[in-house]
Amino acid sequence: MAKTLNYGLIGCGSFGGSHLEALTKMEGVKITAICDKHMKWCNDKKVRYGLEDAVCFDNYEEMLAKMKFDIVTVATSDKAHAGATVAALKAGNNVLCEKPMALFLDECKEMIKAQEESGKLLMVGQVCRFTPGFVKAKEMVDAGVIGELYYVESEYAHDYALIPGVDNWRVDKDREPIIGGACHAIDLLRWIAGNPIETMAYSNHKVLTDWPVNDTTVAIMKFPNDVIGKVFTSVGCKRDYTMRTVLYGTKGTIIVDNTTPYLTLCLEKSTKDGHFADGYFGTGSEREIRHLIKVSLNNHNVAQEHKVMREALLDGKPLMMTGREGAATVAVCRAVVEAAKTGSAVKIEYDF
Ligand SMILES: NC(=O)c1ccc[n+]([C@@H]2O[C@H](COP(=O)([O-])OP(=O)(O)OC[C@H]3O[C@@H](n4cnc5c(N)ncnc54)[C@H](O)[C@@H]3O)[C@@H](O)[C@H]2O)c1
Repeated sequence: MAKTLNYGLIGCGSFGGSHLEALTKMEGVKITAICDKHMKWCNDKKVRYGLEDAVCFDNYEEMLAKMKFDIVTVATSDKAHAGATVAALKAGNNVLCEKPMALFLDECKEMIKAQEESGKLLMVGQVCRFTPGFVKAKEMVDAGVIGELYYVESEYAHDYALIPGVDNWRVDKDREPIIGGACHAIDLLRWIAGNPIETMAYSNHKVLTDWPVNDTTVAIMKFPNDVIGKVFTSVGCKRDYTMRTVLYGTKGTIIVDNTTPYLTLCLEKSTKDGHFADGYFGTGSEREIRHLIKVSLNNHNVAQEHKVMREALLDGKPLMMTGREGAATVAVCRAVVEAAKTGSAVKIEYDF
């Protein structure tokens, strides 16, 4: 039987709800307190997830002073991540903090310091590392299925027009979409291709014109081993949400996203006589062997994040997404913002 751990949640909005949805289906979970600065969201989640025994708070300092937890999940708006995480760590709790770790690197450093001083665990919820299609793609790259990587691209295209968040928190000059949203795409490429070394970027602002930030950015990057890459983000785009990702290797290409139930693997077909096969110019696909590999759809696999967090706590297994990993993704995001602002290439520092 799973050991029962005691959970608290700070931030009871829509993604706090996703965490509760996952936690209430897991064994060995007791949710003893939930907190939101607007009590109505606490009450809403308490009823919706049948948390009769959970105490509701509208102030996390009070919650952390009165109660102790095995794991506190921080699912507030991005700007409150650092304050809530540092407070929870200082009060002696392990923390799973939503992405992005924070909007600024100084906050990330403060969070890492609090984690180290407390001796507790800190995990950052970069959930794409648990999305089945992306997990499969990474496994295939690591196994050499597409040869040596030479170009990688990912995107975060998500229309924010109708999801400004409680109190319009996404409509904030500090909440650059490349950090708040495209941290997913950047983290994914970092995970697969390593820490980018340098970036150049362009941004524009033509769709969400009443928002105080650029809504579209394209960044190009140099990765280790002479791999080059691109990240595109648009948060005003009039299309379905997607994180289409393409990984090009010397022997093949993987095309994958988070909303399609298969991954496409293209491999070169060997030709005996060295000229284009008949029909190549007609179909454009004669030189490729295409495999459609089924993957399950689990776009926001927070259940797996919680499983990893529990296994780290109970069995000492390594945490894939530590504070330093979360901070490295923020470092790349900040460099992209600076590159777009200055019009110059920016070297990315990972000094934390
Ligand atoms: N991993 C993912 O794929 C994913 C998806 C969506 C959102 N998120 C992240 O989850 C977080 C929450 O997003 P959301 O969509 O649920 O937003 P939301 O607006 O629905 O909910 C945020 C909640 O946090 C509460 N809050 C803000 N500051 C607080 C504070 N100081 N103390 C207590 N409560 C506070 C707000 O009142 C609100 O109820 C964000 O960081 C967002 O980036 C992650």
